[in-house]
Amino acid sequence: MGQDQALIFAIGAVASNGMLGLDGWLPWDIPEELAYFETMVAGAALLIGRLTYESMDVVPVDSFIVSRQADLALRPGCRRVAGVEEGLRAALATGKPVFVIGGASVYAAAWPYCHRFYLTRIEQTFAGDMRFPAEIPLADWPVYEESQRTFRENKTGRDVLCRFLQYRQPNPRPLPTDE
Ligand SMILES: NC(=O)c1ccc[n+]([C@@H]2O[C@H](COP(=O)([O-])OP(=O)(O)OC[C@H]3O[C@@H](n4cnc5c(N)ncnc54)[C@H](OP(=O)(O)O)[C@@H]3O)[C@@H](O)[C@H]2O)c1
Repeated sequence: MGQDQALIFAIGAVASNGMLGLDGWLPWDIPEELAYFETMVAGAALLIGRLTYESMDVVPVDSFIVSRQADLALRPGCRRVAGVEEGLRAALATGKPVFVIGGASVYAAAWPYCHRFYLTRIEQTFAGDMRFPAEIPLADWPVYEESQRTFRENKTGRDVLCRFLQYRQPNPRPLPTDE
């Protein structure tokens, strides 16, 4: 990695059966896991897929929304980008830390550029309609940090183990420069 190259992070959570979404939102209801996410991305520039953006009640400034719709109307502080490379360049230009926050299609397109993936593994199966992209080769990325906590999951009323993993990609792809 070049010494001047800024870092790009991804963050997300996945159930033990690979599910990450249901009906346009998360398959589970674990407030502490959501609070962890919010703490991690506070003050960062975010790269967000259009569907995930539309599911969010609050979207911070310096959010870059990936969409092919040139006329997409967005909330103040948000900017449409036509692809993940354009979005990552714009997010890096803010000088803030950069987080890719999903959904699945944006993780699938952005992972080659990510230096780290902060992934919460929720050690229970959940019904879902969107899977974590199988092509992200996390099994080949060393785990740099790991911790775990048990939280109450509100839909099932059961306690679930959440493992907080920080993966580091050995050789992230350099972001192509704009033409
Ligand atoms: N578990 C987690 O950590 C987590 C995190 C985030 C989201 N989610 C869940 O994931 C689900 C949403 O994921 P999703 O994959 O369906 O939607 P998404 O990635 O949030 O948004 C998909 C949309 O983004 C745009 N897009 C995606 N890739 C693009 C590309 N390469 N170039 C240009 N535009 C692109 C397109 O918008 P247009 O149609 O406007 O062109 C596409 O329809 C929801 O259930 C959400 O709650 C889970």
